[in-house]
Parts: sequence; structure tokens; C-alpha cells
Amino acid sequence: MAKLKKSLTQAIEERRATPSFDGTPIPAEDLQQILEAGLAAPSGYNMQPWRFVVVQTPEQKKRLRGASFNQGKVEEASAVIVACGDADGWRKDIDLMLQLGRAGGMPESYAAQARNSVSNYMLSFNADQMHGWLNKMVMIAFTHMMLMAESMGYDTAPMEGFEQDKVHEVLKLPLSYWVVALLAVGHLKGDDKYFGGRFDMAHTVFGEEFGKPLK
Ligand SMILES: Cc1cc2nc3c(=O)[nH]c(=O)nc-3n(C[C@H](O)[C@H](O)[C@H](O)COP(=O)(O)O)c2cc1C
Repeated sequence: MAKLKKSLTQAIEERRATPSFDGTPIPAEDLQQILEAGLAAPSGYNMQPWRFVVVQTPEQKKRLRGASFNQGKVEEASAVIVACGDADGWRKDIDLMLQLGRAGGMPESYAAQARNSVSNYMLSFNADQMHGWLNKMVMIAFTHMMLMAESMGYDTAPMEGFEQDKVHEVLKLPLSYWVVALLAVGHLKGDDKYFGGRFDMAHTVFGEEFGKPLK
């Protein structure tokens, strides 16, 4: 495991959406560490519906840029992690999830009941609800990876500017995949982005009920 260069607090405070990357390749072991942080994320029922396609070759980055409104950083980054959710993942993975859980101490009674509750829950979703559920889960893993990369001294850029159908075509994704966001990882080239500021707590946080200040 690479030594971390920044604490979590520093990574959170210093992270900016990187405007431009210098394109230097990323060592495989660093990429591995970043991806592992994503895989360690929590998810509903531990179903881990995320799937990641890592794009590093110049040709494929160029094609992906074409599917991402021509955003230059897609091509300049060392690696672009395309974060997807698999709407059918739960069907294929439920046995594996229960097996892993049992090995880690999941009670047998929970395992017996989880199979039904997971199926009932997932089957109750329409396509939009499934996409909402996938967005929620995949973005947790995405954020784990973004902050791990920042802690390791990399720069990152999260991106939602892409066309779903075009990314599908470039990456040859299965139909059940839903592309959630792109995470560009690399090293900053030139000046970093200005700090856009954040609303203060009184604007966005309430205590006990809507509209009441947090004491
Ligand atoms: C999920 C997500 C998607 C984003 N998509 C894009 C994008 O496609 N292109 C872009 O230039 N910036 C994109 N951004 C960057 C935001 O504009 C940026 O995070 C925001 O302005 C705050 O700036 P900061 O991240 O430097 O603090 C995205 C950010 C997030 C979190």
C-alpha cells in the first residue's frame, strides 16, 4: 500500500475538480489501491452493484472523450475510471453476497430472509428507481476512490458530462449497465481551479426538523 501523502481532512479540504492533467501514467499498484477503496464502500444489502471500467490507453481515452462532450481532461488524465451500476447485478450476485456474509459472521436467519427481501425490493423498482438506486450506491464507491486518490497525492476530476449511449458504445457495456459518472485521475497541469466556495451550514443544515437551526 502506497504511503498516504495527505490526511483525509487535508484531502477533503484541498481537493479541487482538476481542470487539466499532465498525462503521466499511473503505476498499476496505485490504481489498485484507489480501486480497492471503491470496492470497500458500503451498499444496500451489501449488493455492491458498482462496476468500473478503467480507461488508460490513448486510443480509448480519445474515444471516451468523444462520448464526453469533448472534455479535454478525459484524454489528458492518467486514467479515467468509468463508474457504472449493473441493474441485474443483484440477480447474479445474491448467492455470492450471502456466501461472503456467512463467512464473515452473517447469521443464518438473516441470510435465509435476505434472499426474499432483496428480490422483493429490487423487483419493486421501475427503471428510473433502479437508476436512482444505482446512482446512490455507485457514488459512495466513487467518493471513496476520489478521496483515496487525493490522499495518495493524485488530482481528480469527477464528471457527469457524458452521453450514456455513446459511453455504452465506446466501452461495449452490457445493456443492464448504467453509467453513473467518470472519475479522471492524474496529476494537475498548470493552475488548479479556483475555489468556488461553499454555502455555510445555516443554509443547508437543520436541527431536528426542517427550518430549525442546528444547536
Ligand atoms: C458528480 C459530478 C459531476 C461533475 N461533472 C463535471 C463535468 O462533467 N465537467 C466538469 O468540468 N466538471 C464537473 N464537475 C465538477 C464540478 O463543477 C465541481 O466539483 C464544482 O464546481 C465544485 O468545485 P470543486 O470540486 O473544485 O470544489 C462535476 C462534479 C461532480 C461532483
